[in-house]
Formats: sequence, structure tokens, C-alpha cells
Amino acid sequence: MLRFVLIFLSVNYLPSILGSPESDAKDLNEALNGIPNGYNESVLITVLYEKTYEQRYKMIEVFRKTYGEEAYNQLWNKISYPPTELRRGIMDNSSAYYDAKMLFLAMGFLYYDEHVLFEIMVTRTSQEMREIKKAYDIINKDGMDLCGDIETVTSGDLEDILLALCEADRDESDRVDEKLALRDCCLIYEYGPTYIFGTDEEGINSILFKRNYKQLQLMFEIFSEYRMHARLATLETRTIETVISSEYSYEEEDILQMYIKAVKNRAGYFADLIREGLTDGAKGERRVIRTIFSRAGNDLPEIVKEFGGKDKLVESITNSTDLLGFTKQALIAILNANCEKC
Ligand SMILES: *[C@@H]1O[C@H](CO)[C@@H](O)[C@H](O)[C@H]1NC(C)=O
Ligand SMILES: *[C@@H]1O[C@H](CO)[C@@H](O)[C@H](O)[C@H]1NC(C)=O
Ligand SMILES: *[C@@H]1O[C@H](CO)[C@@H](O)[C@H](O)[C@H]1NC(C)=O
Repeated sequence: MLRFVLIFLSVNYLPSILGSPESDAKDLNEALNGIPNGYNESVLITVLYEKTYEQRYKMIEVFRKTYGEEAYNQLWNKISYPPTELRRGIMDNSSAYYDAKMLFLAMGFLYYDEHVLFEIMVTRTSQEMREIKKAYDIINKDGMDLCGDIETVTSGDLEDILLALCEADRDESDRVDEKLALRDCCLIYEYGPTYIFGTDEEGINSILFKRNYKQLQLMFEIFSEYRMHARLATLETRTIETVISSEYSYEEEDILQMYIKAVKNRAGYFADLIREGLTDGAKGERRVIRTIFSRAGNDLPEIVKEFGGKDKLVESITNSTDLLGFTKQALIAILNANCEKC
């Protein structure tokens, strides 16, 4: 029944869902072979990327079955030059698979990219994290699970933080408890996060990574006003950010600041990743792709809103001198298919 309702809604609100996997596969074959007007890369990009994850996955599955391995290899040859983040994503059937693949690549032997690890781990909800872990097990079926691989590549406080996020054991209710927020504040404020985040059970696990987002937002708010509650009044105003930066350094500080920013406003955080990525060379290009590709079908509309609207985002992508032409067209196609209400 739910499935029926979803299909009904999709047909009504997402006209691009109307194409069947069979007709999509036919379009793909024609685009690859330049039927009828000769090969045109823009046409191939539209066929490949102006899709939801599921549509693309089914299209390629049918394409491979119908036209064979040679045609499938031809597809990969045609898209051999854009960044990995765009190419590898075409075979994933959900954003959880995409995230899992990005994590797997980021922790690979050839190419350890801490930023990718942080970026994904600090922003995914517990529900998303559980799906990513399942997908990771399928992708890395002969290896370790996600938490195991994280344990291998990290150490110290950083490892503790990432493993707590990997556990995905956050309260998922909307319940907000002011007394509890005040208590958490008090602990962090008076003893400092190093003490709290140490080996103490009451530490990092039970506060920062287990409370729900609303509860944490309240706690951060109280935190900056806490001076007024404190018996041991200090003169300077401290925020959770200033306390983190005075107690941590290097990667631990980076990841905690990223996490706090994401807890305060996740869509805004992603919009900033895109904004900064658009003028940050090849690394930035990959970050923009990851953000838009992985949030397609999730909170992409909210992110686009935080960015200032779809027109502005499309214009900024078009203007960017750091993105390949292929990337620009692909990102705009993803936006068209996954952000109809933007
Ligand atoms: C390729 O296709 C695009 C989109 O359909 C079109 O705007 C463009 O003119 C075509 N280019 C050539 C060389 O035919
Ligand atoms: C997604 O793909 C994986 C492997 O490629 C498969 O095991 C899984 O069942 C697929 N999920 C859906 C919903 O199609
Ligand atoms: C894109 O470039 C044009 C021309 O330089 C400029 O007028 C416009 O404001 C830019 N748009 C954005 C969103 O940066």
C-alpha cells in the first residue's frame, strides 16, 4: 500500500520518474552510439545524471543485460576522465552506497583522505549511518566493517571520536530536556572537554554523540550563556567552539568544529561545503560532487535553499573556473532530477 502511494506521488510530482528502466536503457545506448545525430557528450550526461539513484541503477542494470559487456565497457570508456566521485557513483542504488564507497576509497591504501572521512562521519544521522554500514559490508565483503577500518587508520582521541560516530547510537527523538542541557553544560564548562571526553563513561559518548540534535542545540545555546549560571563566574564568554579550540588541536579540533557546525545547521554546513568547494581547485570540485551527489534524494532541497536557491547554485556552478565542463553539466542534471521543488 505504501509503495503504491509512493508510486502515485512520484508519478504526480516527479515527471522524470515516468521513464521505465527499459526505455532509459535504450536512451543510454543511443546516447553512447550517437543515434540519430552523432555522438554528443551533453546528451550522454543528461541520460546518465538526470536521474534518481534508483532510476540510474535500474537503467544501467537493464542496459548491461540488454546490450552486453562490450557496451557496458564502452560506457566506462566514454566517462573515463571526470573525477572518480562522479564516475563511481553511477553504479550505486542509494546515497548510503555512495557514501560507503566514498569512505571505502578514502581509507584505501593508495589514497587516504581524512577530509572525506570527517565530512561523512560528522554529518550523517544514526539512521543514515546504519545504512552506510550495511552498504559498506557489501562493498568490502572480504574485509573489515566500517568501524574496523576506521580503527585501523586512526588513533588516539580522533579514533574515539570517529568510533563514537560510527556506533550510531544517538537518541533519535525530538525530546528536549533543559535540566539535562544545563547539567551537560556544567560538566563540560567546569571540567573541560578533555576531562569529560576522556575515558569517563559520562564523556564524549554520552553527551556529544548520543544526545539528539535538538538537545545539543539547546546545550550549545545555554553554553554561551552559562557564565550567568555558573557559581564560579568567569569573565570571558565561552562558547562550545572556543572551549573546543582551547582544549584540542590538529585533527581533533578540526573534526569537532565540523561536527558542531553540522549539529547546529546541517543543511547550512553542506551549503558551505559547496560554496567553498566551488573555488578550491580539484579537491574542491570533488567535495562539491560528493555533497550534491550524496545528498540527492535526501536533504538536497534544504541545502539548495541554504545556498540561496537553485538558480543561484546553478549560476555559481556555471561560473566556477575550478569545475570541469563535464562536472558542471552532471551536477546541474542531478539537481534537475532531485530538486524539483527547489
Ligand atoms: C549537444 O546536445 C546539446 C543538448 O541537447 C545541444 O544543446 C548541443 O547543441 C549539441 N551539440 C552539438 C554539437 O550538436
Ligand atoms: C543495492 O545494490 C546492492 C549491491 O550492488 C544490493 O545488494 C542491494 O540489494 C541493492 N539494493 C536495492 C534496494 O536495490
Ligand atoms: C556569474 O557570473 C556573472 C558574470 O560574471 C555575474 O554577473 C554573476 O553575478 C555570477 N553569478 C554568481 C552566482 O556568482
